[in-house]
Amino acid sequence: MKSHKELTFLGIETSCDETAAGIVSCKKDNGRLSFKVLANIVSSQHIHSHTGGVIPEQASRAHIQLIVPIVKTALAVANKTYQDLDGIAVTYAPGLVGSLLVGLSFAKALALSLKIPFVGVNHLKGHIFSLFISYPELQPPFLALIISGGHTELLLINSYNQQKILGTTFDDACGEAFDKVARMLGLPYPGGSFIEKLAQKGKRTIMFPMPNMPAYDFSFSGLKTAVLYYLKSQTNPNKEDIACSFQEVVFDFLLKKIQLAVAEYQINKVGISGGVAINRYLREKCYEYGKIHNIDFYFPDLSMSTDNGAMIAAAGIANYLERGPSPLALAPIANIRYASTIN
Ligand code: KG4
Ligand code: ZN
Repeated sequence: MKSHKELTFLGIETSCDETAAGIVSCKKDNGRLSFKVLANIVSSQHIHSHTGGVIPEQASRAHIQLIVPIVKTALAVANKTYQDLDGIAVTYAPGLVGSLLVGLSFAKALALSLKIPFVGVNHLKGHIFSLFISYPELQPPFLALIISGGHTELLLINSYNQQKILGTTFDDACGEAFDKVARMLGLPYPGGSFIEKLAQKGKRTIMFPMPNMPAYDFSFSGLKTAVLYYLKSQTNPNKEDIACSFQEVVFDFLLKKIQLAVAEYQINKVGISGGVAINRYLREKCYEYGKIHNIDFYFPDLSMSTDNGAMIAAAGIANYLERGPSPLALAPIANIRYASTIN
């Protein structure tokens, strides 16, 4: 093992329908971690686009076929060999158990054979580290909003390994709401980017009700149902206007929660990660809002916003530096209760 001055980790992500491997090196200077992404290879499983959602059994099978070529490609792109790796990080929770098992088993076997540390990573922590990778200057404390197909979480980031969950969704995740509304509009899965495209041609003519949730609680199912009822009430619905009106109310809702946290914690730095964060209109809207309300918004590079292996490698390095390797008995967990520290 090299000194702790520089570590190179392979990160593996198979929690849902992306098979991903990233290679990241990290230097620690005065307690500050600086990450360099050497490779970040993602294969999205298009097999699910026809079914309107991910079929777990099919996702697991696809991960098994893809994991070896994806890891080999990542090593080739990084110009590294297995022997150059100091550790292997992998998502162990939350996600589809069969999918997590593929990455977890592969990572354990590889780490064992190479005699290097194996480190389990919570997927959510990976999304937080996509912000640290994209913005080396971003130092805690800051607020983070993770919005994806599986998550809607507002967090207070106190340090690399200390986070507090302020709020989460009571029903659908933000991206899931986009996917379900997209399906109602006859768009393919996953539908977020199709909604965004349609919304560009529409106007906010329909006042869908903003979810009415206290404090940092989120909910999207009522809004989704409102769209469904509206669609049923129209003989010739204007899909562009529906997409635009839906997207606007979702983003107003997110900004309302952000503003609440900014005021309570007196923190004006907000990072937004996860698949929904690639929405260009959301980015523009936040930057505009930030100018008026003196909030600095941080969005990771597009390839870093959606699920990827580099963010898992980076979070894995932070876990490893804090508490060493994970036990080889680490099991996948579909749903995990959040603690103040996300590993
Ligand atoms: O982070 P991600 O790749 O995977 C999960 O962890 O879920 O996020 C995927 C989600 C999907 O729900 C997808 O519809 C949504 O991100 N998404 C978008 C956009 N692109 C992807 N939502 C809104 N606007 C977009 N442009
Ligand atoms: Zn994700």
